[in-house]
Amino acid sequence: MKSFSFNTFQTLFLFYLSTSTIFFSPPSISASSSSSTLTTTQILKINQTLLSPTGIFQLSFFSYNNLSWYLGIRYNIDHDNRTVVWVANRKTPIQNPNTFLKLTDTGNLIITDQSNKIIWATEKINKNSTLKKNPILQILDSGNLVISESPNENDPTKFLWQSFDFPTDTLLPGMKLGWNFDTNTEKHINSWKVTDQDPSIGDISFKMHYHGVPEIFLWNKNRRVYRSGPWNGKRFSGVPEMQPFTDSIQFTFVQNDHEVYYTFSIVNESLFSRLSVDSIGELQRLTWIHSRKIWTKFWYAPKDQCDNYKECGPFSICDTNASPVCNCIKGFHPKNHQAWNLRDGSDGCLRDNKLDCVSDRFLHLGNVKLPETSSVFVNRSMTLLECGDLCQKNCSCTGYANIEIVNGGSGCVMWLDQLIDIRAYPVGGQDLFVRLAASDVDDEVVRESSDRKTAKAIGIMAGGAAVIFLAVGICFLWRKKKLQFLLNLKGKSEKRAGSSEKSQDLLITEGVFTSNREQSSETNMDDLELPFFDFNTIIMATNNFSEQNKLGQGGFGIVYKGRLLEGKEIAVKRLSKNSGQGVEEFKNEVKLIVKLQHRNLVRLLGCSFQMDEKVLVYEYMENRSLDAILFDKVRRSSLDWQTRFNIISGIARGLLYLHQDSRFRIIHRDLKASNILLDREMNPKISDFGMARIFGTDQTEANTVRVVGTYGYMSPEYAMDGIFSVKSDVFSFGVLVMEIISGKKNRGFYSANKELNLLGHSWKLWKDGNALELIDSSIDNSYSHSEVLRCIQVGLLCVQERAEDRPTMSSVVLMLSSETATIAEPKNPGFCLGSTPIETDSSSSKKDESCTVNQVTCTMVDGR
Ligand SMILES: *[C@@H]1O[C@H](CO)[C@@H](O)[C@H](O)[C@H]1NC(C)=O
Ligand SMILES: *[C@@H]1O[C@H](CO)[C@@H](O)[C@H](O)[C@H]1NC(C)=O
Ligand SMILES: *[C@@H]1O[C@H](CO)[C@@H](O)[C@H](O)[C@H]1NC(C)=O
Ligand SMILES: *[C@@H]1O[C@H](CO)[C@@H](O)[C@H](O)[C@H]1NC(C)=O
Ligand SMILES: *[C@@H]1O[C@H](CO)[C@@H](O)[C@H](O)[C@H]1NC(C)=O
Ligand SMILES: *[C@@H]1O[C@H](CO)[C@@H](O)[C@H](O)[C@H]1NC(C)=O
Ligand SMILES: *[C@@H]1O[C@H](CO)[C@@H](O)[C@H](O)[C@H]1NC(C)=O
Repeated sequence: MKSFSFNTFQTLFLFYLSTSTIFFSPPSISASSSSSTLTTTQILKINQTLLSPTGIFQLSFFSYNNLSWYLGIRYNIDHDNRTVVWVANRKTPIQNPNTFLKLTDTGNLIITDQSNKIIWATEKINKNSTLKKNPILQILDSGNLVISESPNENDPTKFLWQSFDFPTDTLLPGMKLGWNFDTNTEKHINSWKVTDQDPSIGDISFKMHYHGVPEIFLWNKNRRVYRSGPWNGKRFSGVPEMQPFTDSIQFTFVQNDHEVYYTFSIVNESLFSRLSVDSIGELQRLTWIHSRKIWTKFWYAPKDQCDNYKECGPFSICDTNASPVCNCIKGFHPKNHQAWNLRDGSDGCLRDNKLDCVSDRFLHLGNVKLPETSSVFVNRSMTLLECGDLCQKNCSCTGYANIEIVNGGSGCVMWLDQLIDIRAYPVGGQDLFVRLAASDVDDEVVRESSDRKTAKAIGIMAGGAAVIFLAVGICFLWRKKKLQFLLNLKGKSEKRAGSSEKSQDLLITEGVFTSNREQSSETNMDDLELPFFDFNTIIMATNNFSEQNKLGQGGFGIVYKGRLLEGKEIAVKRLSKNSGQGVEEFKNEVKLIVKLQHRNLVRLLGCSFQMDEKVLVYEYMENRSLDAILFDKVRRSSLDWQTRFNIISGIARGLLYLHQDSRFRIIHRDLKASNILLDREMNPKISDFGMARIFGTDQTEANTVRVVGTYGYMSPEYAMDGIFSVKSDVFSFGVLVMEIISGKKNRGFYSANKELNLLGHSWKLWKDGNALELIDSSIDNSYSHSEVLRCIQVGLLCVQERAEDRPTMSSVVLMLSSETATIAEPKNPGFCLGSTPIETDSSSSKKDESCTVNQVTCTMVDGR
């Protein structure tokens, strides 16, 4: 038998030799001697076991059907079943019995087979991850499987890897459940597909939500089924029975700037206890009874009807001792009497009397599970008294409570919305104070300042008046908005009529744009799934919009880099608050923009919003924006001619798609180098398209209301008359082409002749037959002269003064891509003068007679 195993190994070894660089033969560890460690020179075969030092846990492969094998950490004490507490390869069962576990020189753990196929690994095999000194794998008596560089390593921060960081369905003592904000990682437990049968990932999970006051939710797929309640310093608000066993099991909840987590520890080491989620939907704590050698269910949830999340709707209390279980809070009545009578309390309750803010009082509810705390106001240093005062002053505050109940209570949590998922306990709940109209509270009232009594009558009157006034105001505003919209349309079409003698091309002006917009929001897009990101996900991904994650400041908001939990990188644009749009409008616009898909447009992945925050989520572009490379003394040399030509062509195709090929004609209105992003292969992608839709037509930049565009990219007719058309985008494109060729900014360009900007300078060189002098000196000489000249010519055509002379994007694309296309001779460009507009005097107009002199008197604001 020994020699057989050796032979098997030799075959394995040959495979190793042929595919990797291991030059010695690792023996498999002996199955009889129970080792607790594995080194890089050993392997663990499918019928072998690692045993923790005192034999509490083991690491071994297991199977329920002899077909699919898994590597797991298991209790070694319960010989009948060997309860599995951790599974390595949940997603990739082993089918081949000749598979083994191996520790690599880089400190990674892999499950592989003779063909060297990697079935599972502690991380994606990184070819150049560094070699580690003497990596060693150990199974500890805590049930933690660790890789370290020393067998005596006790410091968890020095572990190269530990299974405790990757919980499966069981929380062992010492494991954390929660979030680490430094590494942006989250730990939760997730049930098996079928408990005790199929370890693959099931539907049930127990996961912390850290916003407001953290709570842990039990989920079934993506539906919340149970909530722990917030931690009150002693226990979870929704688990009053947690108290009695603190002498054997200690529960810990840690919350600071770096992490928030729940964990537990065992006081007497001979006690074994674990928390797990089973595939039926139950969260359970099991404890080992030594004498009988069985696991008993020590605690479980959800326990009863009232544990079901939102069993009773807003402003109602679930009480298992009542019939029906759902009851409105005093001062409230059922919203839907019929359903309520049929024992369905999910619609919740409404106030009997409206709040008036000034004279409202607070009803004390004792022994309750606090309402859901995911969107509450929190101040941990406030007392209950201060908390009540603050709540009284803030009209949107619906209730308040202490956060911690130890030492007489401390901290303040204030609800600013409906109170959801409250339940009553016979003993062990907490105190909650609910805001009610004064008339709904009698002697049960707890807090009320004496002077408020006199103000009460006045308050009620004033409050009533305020409500009426508000209602009238809203009505008026709504009508005014609608009227204004109609007026806008009218104004725009008049303007169009006025300029139509000038050009037919200009017809696509704001008026049409606006009415298009109206039309498309009418043709309801509800069939289209709106990719929506949870706002908390965005906060996590961007490290709460941290300064370090900032990629840049755009006109419409700041852009942050983010990383989703699954590792995907995203760019998050946090829109400036004054887009003037409601959430519904915003959603409609995003639904439209999401449909625009082209390889030269930045892909919009979705959006997210919360209160007045709106963010757009884009794919992340490795090479950021064109201006950062093009106008950088050092980096611009990395843009050779071929790359620049590809960028120009790509932008042209993207713009053509926006103008013509997409279902919704989009005028970009703010095309410029900083809005061109580059992916890893330097493919250009236009960003910020569709912003004009989101930010309305009278704003190009949202930060200020009356801003026109970005200086240096604006066409003359737009800058002067506010007329915007596809041809103004073409103008901006032309400017961009000249900038890409020359590596210089149109704005801030100074030629020897100080009066000319980049356009004027290019035009002069073109006229003089010296156009090739324009090309960026950092480009080496290997470029095709004819291609460069063609680009310059197309660029100059695009920046011609008269909009009707400029080509459309379809002819631009044609001219750029075809050697043989005939290209018109450009006429003079618009805006060819330098930094400041200059009075027309005979000498200057003579010097640059081909240049038009535009006297620009409108306000211009720099883009960034
Ligand atoms: C392990 O499996 C091998 C064959 O794969 C067999 O030769 C060996 O006897 C087994 N060892 C034990 C301890 O079962
Ligand atoms: C798996 O194989 C073992 C040993 O060969 C056998 O005892 C067991 O009954 C098998 N189990 C199943 C589900 O086939
Ligand atoms: C890994 O290799 C890639 C190229 O193969 C290289 O760009 C990268 O810098 C290397 N990373 C490390 C950490 O050496
Ligand atoms: C731990 O528990 C065991 C069994 O219940 C008991 O015999 C032992 O005295 C306890 N040890 C301590 C330190 O409490
Ligand atoms: C082992 O599992 C079976 C079925 O899951 C169960 O009936 C039995 O009680 C378990 N034994 C122990 C010791 O937990
Ligand atoms: C919390 O309350 C204390 C006491 O009222 C106050 O000094 C402190 O500024 C508050 N903190 C926050 C973040 O509001
Ligand atoms: C009420 O308090 C919340 C949280 O601090 C705050 O956002 C809101 O503006 C306050 N409302 C009023 C009317 O003071």
